[in-house]
Amino acid sequence: MRLLVTGAAGFIGSHFVRHALAQPGVESIVVLDALRYSGNLSTMSDFRDQVIFVHGEIQDADLVGKALRDHGTTHLVNFAAESHNDRSLLSNSHFVQTNTFGVQVLLDETRKNGLERMLQVSTDEVYGSIDDGEFTEESPLQPNTPYSASKAGGELLCRAHWVSFRTPVVVTRGGNTYGAFHYPEKLIPFFLVRLLQGKKVPLYGEGSQVREWINVRDHAAGVWAVLTKGENGQVYNVGDTNERPNREVVSFLLAELGLDDSLVKCIPDPRKGAHDTRYSMATSKVRSLGWEPQVPFDEGLRQTVHWFRDNEAWWRPIVEDADYKSFVEGFYGPSLGDDL
Ligand SMILES: NC(=O)c1ccc[n+]([C@@H]2O[C@H](COP(=O)([O-])OP(=O)(O)OC[C@H]3O[C@@H](n4cnc5c(N)ncnc54)[C@H](O)[C@@H]3O)[C@@H](O)[C@H]2O)c1
Repeated sequence: MRLLVTGAAGFIGSHFVRHALAQPGVESIVVLDALRYSGNLSTMSDFRDQVIFVHGEIQDADLVGKALRDHGTTHLVNFAAESHNDRSLLSNSHFVQTNTFGVQVLLDETRKNGLERMLQVSTDEVYGSIDDGEFTEESPLQPNTPYSASKAGGELLCRAHWVSFRTPVVVTRGGNTYGAFHYPEKLIPFFLVRLLQGKKVPLYGEGSQVREWINVRDHAAGVWAVLTKGENGQVYNVGDTNERPNREVVSFLLAELGLDDSLVKCIPDPRKGAHDTRYSMATSKVRSLGWEPQVPFDEGLRQTVHWFRDNEAWWRPIVEDADYKSFVEGFYGPSLGDDL
C-alpha cells in the first residue's frame, strides 16, 4: 500500500500516520498539508523523516493529482479540514472551501488516477443532537453548525461519487476525540493549557452537554480498520462508549492537576442558537471489522493530562501566537481576560 494522508500535520491525522507506519505492507506515506493554524510540523517531528511532505491545499487539483502520480499512491485518507465548530460561528466560507469543495477535488483525483480507495474522515456532528438512544449509520443527517454542515456536504459528495461513478470511497464518522498533540482550542486541550498556566476555564452554562469521547489512538486504529477492511460506498461510525457531561470531564482535569473548582467560571453559552446537548453513536458496524477501542477513558484522559504537562514546548508557541490569541478574544470577548 502506498498512502497519501492529507491533514497529517494536525491532531488525528498525525496519530493515523504513527499507526500506519507500524503496519505491515505500507510501502510509503506522503503527507499533504496546507499548514493552516492547527497544522504544525512540530506535530510530525517524531515521524517527519519517515514520510514525504507536500505543502499545499486539497482544493488544488493539479497539486493533488501530481502528488498522487509522483508517488504511485494506491490509497488516500483525508483528514484535512477546518475542524473547529466555534470558529465556523465566526466566519465560515473557508469551511465550505476545504470541507466540501476540497473533498470534491479529492474524489475527482481518486477516480482520474485509478486509486484503489479513498477514505473520507467525517464526524458524528453531521447527525446533530440526540436526547435518547444512539445514532446509527442510517440516521438522517441534521447538522447544526456551519462546520458540521460543511462536513455533511463532503460526505454527500462521497456518496454521490460512489453511486454515479463507482469511485471507491468509504467514510468514517468519528466521535469527540482527545489525546496528545491536540491543538488547544477544543474543550480538553483548551482547558488543560489554561489550567497549566494558572488561568480560569470558561464552562458553557453548567457544563451539562454530554459528549461521547474516544481516544485518538483508538480513532486512528478505527480509520485504519475501515481503510483496510471496510466496504466501498459504506459509512462507519467510529466511537467509544464514554458519555460524559463536560462538567465531569473538567472535574477530572482539575483533580489530576491537584486544582480545585475555583478555577472554573460558568459563562453564558456564546452560541446564539441551540447548542447540541448530546451525541451518541452505535458502533456495531465498525466492530464487525474486528476493531474495538483499547484505551479506557480515565486512563487515556490521565495520559493526556500528563502529556500536556510534560510537553509545554509543543503548546507554548501555539498559545503565544497572534492568531490563537485573537481567536480566543474574538470568540469569548473581553470577559475572557487573563483574570478570568
Ligand atoms: N477532533 C475531533 O474531535 C474530531 C472528531 C471527529 C471527526 N474529526 C474530523 O477529523 C479530521 C481531523 O481533525 P483534527 O481534529 O485532527 O483537525 P486539526 O484541525 O487538528 O487538523 C486539520 C489539518 O488539516 C490541515 N488543513 C486544513 N485545511 C487544509 C486544506 N485546505 N488543505 C490541506 N490541509 C488542510 C491543517 O493544516 C491541519 O494540519 C477532520 O476532518 C475532522 O472533521 C475530528
